[in-house]
Amino acid sequence: MTLSIDSTVQLNNGVAMPRFGLGTYQTPAGSSTENAVRHALEVGYRAVDTAALYGNESGVGNAVRAGIVPREQVFVTSKVWVDDLNYEDTKAAFDATMQQMGLDTLDLYLIHWPVNDWQGAWRALEEIHQAGRVRAIGVSNFLQHHLETLFDFAEIRPTVNQVELHPFLQQPDLVAFCHEYDIQVTAWAPLMKGRVMDVPELVDIGQQFGKTAIQVTLRWMLQIGLLTIPKSAKPEHIDANADIFDFELSDSEIQTINSLDRDERLGMHPDHFGE
Ligand SMILES: NC(=O)c1ccc[n+]([C@@H]2O[C@H](COP(=O)([O-])OP(=O)(O)OC[C@H]3O[C@@H](n4cnc5c(N)ncnc54)[C@H](OP(=O)(O)O)[C@@H]3O)[C@@H](O)[C@H]2O)c1
Repeated sequence: MTLSIDSTVQLNNGVAMPRFGLGTYQTPAGSSTENAVRHALEVGYRAVDTAALYGNESGVGNAVRAGIVPREQVFVTSKVWVDDLNYEDTKAAFDATMQQMGLDTLDLYLIHWPVNDWQGAWRALEEIHQAGRVRAIGVSNFLQHHLETLFDFAEIRPTVNQVELHPFLQQPDLVAFCHEYDIQVTAWAPLMKGRVMDVPELVDIGQQFGKTAIQVTLRWMLQIGLLTIPKSAKPEHIDANADIFDFELSDSEIQTINSLDRDERLGMHPDHFGE
């Protein structure tokens, strides 16, 4: 498989989305975020993931508008937070996000968690999409049963489901279900917040290529058809995380990583959010 930093996947509405991008959760608002995103764009990243919750949308927007690459070549994702999950508040939240970012259109807008009146929020997302203000809409942290509920009433199928996914939580059934319905899966916490560095099997595989366990993990995700958004606020880490396009894992190495799954979550279970 030939992959590069700007390789894209075609979403179910025809929009091209980069497979690889920069996460920004806990990147401090303002210049830290702006500098991280600017650096990422300079070294070839073409997707950025943020959310209203992160408080750093304005730094993301400043970097995207800085002219490092043309706007249409950067794919920007944001998310509506749980407090705004109903029809009216989601519409207002989208307006606030766009104002923070200073952008005319967003590339992808997600429901952050399947709680509160997320069905009403989905209707708002459909209208925002139909009005041409966002190129694609999707969900995050949806389990199969949430997707089935959505399919019952939605006019637009989600393009993406962004879920916690890493070597210790691979969610194969959910991934297969999403792919069956042509919904792309984006992995959040792909690095297990840095802990993949300590997984001996990943370190061992990396040594054969002169790569780190982090680089092996990110390469594995791309090779098995996932999208991934590793977060870093440090230039050297942003560079290292993108240095994954000059080696290829074998089928047996992929199997070794697949066998590390232990259904271990770092974040909340979507059915127990806020408990
Ligand atoms: N939809 C959701 O509910 C949801 C939830 C969580 C996250 N997300 C999204 O997914 C993105 C990724 O998840 P995440 O941020 O939780 O975790 P992550 O990407 O698995 O890990 C980020 C951590 O790893 C460190 N790191 C990154 N590259 C490194 C490297 N090369 N060497 C050593 N340490 C490194 C970062 O520190 P430094 O900054 O110091 O490099 C940070 O502490 C988020 O940023 C966010 O955009 C979405």
